[in-house]
Parts: sequence; C-alpha cells; structure tokens
Amino acid sequence: MYHEKLDPFPKDFLWGAASAAYQIEGGWDADGKGPSVWDEFAKIPGKTFEGTNGDVAVDHYHRFQEDVKLMAEMGMKSYRFSVAWSRIFPEGSGEVNEKGLAFYEQLIDALRKYKIEPVLTLYHWDIPKALQDKYGGWESRKVIDDFDQYARTLFTRFKDKVKYWVSFNEQNVFTAMGYRWDTHPPRVTDVKRMFAANHIINLTNAKVINSFHELVPNGLIGPSFGYGPMYSFDCDPSNVLAALNGEEFQNHWWMDVYVHGKYPKVTFKHLTRLGIAPTLEAGDEALLQSAKPDFLGVNYYHGGTVKANEIEQPPTSEDQDTEEKAFQATDPYLMQPKTEQAQSPETTMFKNVANPFLETTKWGWEIDPIGIRIALRRLQNRYDLPMMITENGLGAIDQLTDEGTIEDDYRIEYLQTHLIEVQKAITDGVELLGYCAWSFTDLLSWLNGYKKRYGFVYIDRDDTSEKDLKRIPKKSYYWYKKVIETNGKELYSNR
Ligand code: BG6
Repeated sequence: MYHEKLDPFPKDFLWGAASAAYQIEGGWDADGKGPSVWDEFAKIPGKTFEGTNGDVAVDHYHRFQEDVKLMAEMGMKSYRFSVAWSRIFPEGSGEVNEKGLAFYEQLIDALRKYKIEPVLTLYHWDIPKALQDKYGGWESRKVIDDFDQYARTLFTRFKDKVKYWVSFNEQNVFTAMGYRWDTHPPRVTDVKRMFAANHIINLTNAKVINSFHELVPNGLIGPSFGYGPMYSFDCDPSNVLAALNGEEFQNHWWMDVYVHGKYPKVTFKHLTRLGIAPTLEAGDEALLQSAKPDFLGVNYYHGGTVKANEIEQPPTSEDQDTEEKAFQATDPYLMQPKTEQAQSPETTMFKNVANPFLETTKWGWEIDPIGIRIALRRLQNRYDLPMMITENGLGAIDQLTDEGTIEDDYRIEYLQTHLIEVQKAITDGVELLGYCAWSFTDLLSWLNGYKKRYGFVYIDRDDTSEKDLKRIPKKSYYWYKKVIETNGKELYSNR
C-alpha cells in the first residue's frame, strides 16, 4: 500500500527500550535472591559462549539509578524490564523476600520520577531453580498456582505504579530452546514434553491474566510473542501452502490460544496424529477462553521463508545450496531440525530455506524491515488488538574508538528502516501503543555472551573481564534521543 503522506506517530507514543533481569541485573544472590534455572545452566561447561553468565552481567542491580538517569536524558517514554521471580520468592513460593520487592519498587519509582512508563514483564525465562527441582517446573500443573501467587504479589504491590504488564516473554522461543533443542534449561529434547509444558504455560498465562483483571482493573496486560511472518519462497501453490502451514505451526499455535483460547485445528490434528499433542483436561478450555489479553506484545527480529515439504517435493541440487545457507544460522526461530529426528512435526508441512532477497547479520539473522509491517498487519487483521513492539534491534560487534565513542551507524540504519515501516503500518491502520528497542544498555546475550551487543549504551566489559562496567552512550543513543524529541520526524532527516 502506497501512502503519499504518512500519519504522524500517535502523540503519546511510548518510545522506549527493553531489557530482561538475567541479562542485565547481576547481583545473582544479593539480598536474599534464590537461584534461577539460568544461574545453574550458565555454569555448565560448554553451554554458553565462552562460559559467560549473568552473575554480574552489567551490574544494573547496583547501578539502576545511573541507568535510569541515562534513560531520562535520552527522553525515553517507556522502559520494559523483567522481574526475577526468585528475587521475590527465593524458593519459588511461600515466603516473600521484601528486599526483592523493594529493589523493583525503587526502580519503578525512579522511572516514574522521570515520567518514564514502566512496562513490567513477569517472566523472561528465569524460573526459580527450587521449583524446577521440586516438581519439574513448567512440566507440572503445580506451577500454575505458584506463578499466580508470584504475579498477584506484584499486581498488589505495583498496581498503582505500573500500567503496562507483559505476562510471558517469547513462550515459543523458551519452550523450543528448553524442551526441544537442549540449548536452554531444563535441557530436554522431547517435543511431546515441549507441547505438554507449553500447554501448562498457556493455562498459567490465562490464570494470571484473570488475576490481573481482578486486581488491576485500570492496567493493561498481554504476552510478548516472538513473531516472525512466514513467507512462501515463490508463488508455486505448494510453497504457498507450506507457508500457510508454517504460519499456523510457528505463530497461530500460540497466538490463537492467547486471544481466542483455542488451539488451531489443523496443527492440533497433526500433532495428535503424531502422538505429541498436549492433553487437555476438564476445565482447561474454559480457563483458556475466559482470559483475554488487553494488548499483544510483539518481539520482531525477522520471519522465515519456506518451501513445500521434502516428501512431496524432493530437493534439487540447487535447493540444497539454499537450504544449507538457511541452516548455517544458529537461530532459535528456525525450528526445523538439521538432522532427521524421531519426532519432527515440520517434516510433512514445510522446510525452511534462505530468503534470497535479504541480507543477514553476523549471526545469520535476516534483516527485513518490511517484515515488521507485514507482521503488524497480519496480527492486526487476525487478532484486532492494540499492539506494542516489545523488542526489535540489531545484535552487532561494537568497537570503542580511541576517542571513547561508539560509531554504530549500522544500528541507526537498522532501527531507522524498521521504524519507517512501523510508521507505514500505523498509517495503514495498525493500532500501536509503543516501540521498545532491544536493548537500552548492552547486556548478556543468552548464548552469545557480551560480544553480541544491542544497546544504545555501551557497557565497558567483555566476555572475560568485567572491567569498569562504565556506561558510554553510543551514536545511536543521540540519534534515538532526536527521534523521540521529534516524535519520529528525525527518521527522515537524512533521507
Ligand atoms: C529475544 C529475547 O529472543 O531475543 C531476548 O527475548 C534476547 O532476551 C533477544 O536477548 C536477542 O537474542 P540474542 O540471542 O541475540 O541475545
């Protein structure tokens, strides 16, 4: 759709940036915090890049006042962060740790002092280790009440200070990485268990959304989903059908449940045939249908391109080249196995291929600004809820120059091209509350250490040394400040 003139960003658009507790806080056992599964997992030899972990991370736990001041100087309107469950309940349930609550209260108060809207994520992948040990974490229905107790504690304490809440961050990613690929805790490689745990998380999500609506009637809550639009490789109808399969399997499988409380029929039947569908107990469907999010958080990095499954369309030698490229990327969103696995639901539906129109980052992630518009449009059409971009950004290796600056023009280019597409989506008719770039400061990339940087603010540390953890605003920091000041007009200053 071509627009001669774009609509301006809404007047109260929430320009922001995001983070997650384990990736920035450090203070892993400070003030009574209990260990999470990540505190254990990151210390297993060979599991993370160069053995990096979040024990100190970027020490936000002790330096949050300085970080919030930098946010304020940048003019940020919103800041998305997550709460570490095991700071609040060191054992996962039972006794509340007041010092943990006090930490987040001080952070929220500091944000509010500068009129920065807090966007609080309840779960960004760090379930307390105590619950993993006690009953297998997300694989037991006991977790539903424990998570609800944790969420209710936060709702009650912060209901007058926080309006925007995210229930789960990227359920599609942490279940795949943790229960299928053995790349995140709890290191399971079993799709049946993955779909079973995923179902329990869906029930938990529904339960806390209902608790939220009871306790925080004026707030807004929604999950943040790692959404990647699926593309057909070309207009061959069998590839178009494959893209339909991909969209349902990778995206609707989660989002339909969030919004409509129902699993999509075709995928459910397919998983049932393979004997890996989740078991629904009496009352599950009613619970799922009783809870509706107020908005959808969208984490967008890129989509995926597919061709017909190999059984019906055996690959040619040319195909093999493109597929090889697609698999070179170590990418959580590419859920198709590299080698034949006993249970691989994708095999009969589609196969991932590289998109010849797109460049990739050093880590093999496709760079696709138009994809963010496609994502927003598809989600608006299908779910008709307000949305917030809760993550979008570029992971890159930044160099600190001798002059002490970071000239990250590539990051500016990435954010600028994506934000222009976001504005086009708004002009198309998408209802968007805000945009949180990933990330505010540099932080620990779960599997790529401190080398892969995303922030507007450089942190002087690397994979082997914490150095002085000095905060240095990058060129992109000053650029984003202008974007916010001009409510987006700066996006066109050099075009
Ligand atoms: C998202 C996560 O999947 O992608 C973030 O919500 C993560 O926590 C981000 O850091 C970027 O991923 P990576 O692997 O490059 O750190």
